[in-house]
Amino acid sequence: MNRIDAVSLVEEVVGRYPATKVVLSRYGLDAYEEAESSRQSVSRFAEDRGMPVEWLLEELNRVVDISLQEPPPTSFLSLLETHEWLDELFLLYQEALLAGNLSLALELLEKVEAEQREHIRIEEEILLPVYERAGEIPGGKPEFYLNEHKKMLGILDGFKEAMPRLIREGSDENRRGVIELFDQGYWFKRLHEHHDQREKNILYPVLDRVTSEEERDQLLKECFPE
Ligand SMILES: [Fe+2]
Ligand SMILES: [Fe+2]
Repeated sequence: MNRIDAVSLVEEVVGRYPATKVVLSRYGLDAYEEAESSRQSVSRFAEDRGMPVEWLLEELNRVVDISLQEPPPTSFLSLLETHEWLDELFLLYQEALLAGNLSLALELLEKVEAEQREHIRIEEEILLPVYERAGEIPGGKPEFYLNEHKKMLGILDGFKEAMPRLIREGSDENRRGVIELFDQGYWFKRLHEHHDQREKNILYPVLDRVTSEEERDQLLKECFPE
């Protein structure tokens, strides 16, 4: 269901879902015209920029879905959906960084970090002990997952440490600091991609193999409590 419609006011949209600023800034909602544009409806905002309102609504509602995160359906496949969702959220953080909106970038980064940490907690506390039943698996030692988790969280911690200084100094005064975050971001994305492949090809299929349907249901309920 769409959460934003054509008659919604831009300022209300931005107030309720701050991550939508990332989309609106692509179409020129920036500091100097924010006050005027933000009192317009979404349809007027689109019309002034010569774009079909349906396109803008689609982009805005996609970002709303990502920033709210719908509870995933109960299946092991939903863990892959969490990976995809985390990728999207990370891209939103990078877009905010690119747009020079550092406070929004930090807000999105904190969300990425918290959700990544929770996903990892689920895998390490609930799923890896079950996975170990399968015994030796080439390319699938539990340490591989643990090491990659540690590396990913380490990079995210590094981003969080760098942000307060950038916010203090402003992105214009510290362009090299912003470039450094993008360089590190490249490694984070490659690592996440590699990790996604390892879990998609080994961890989740093996978990399916070593559990009964009943146990799977039970485990998934533990992974995603109401
Ligand atoms: Fe995972
Ligand atoms: Fe993982």
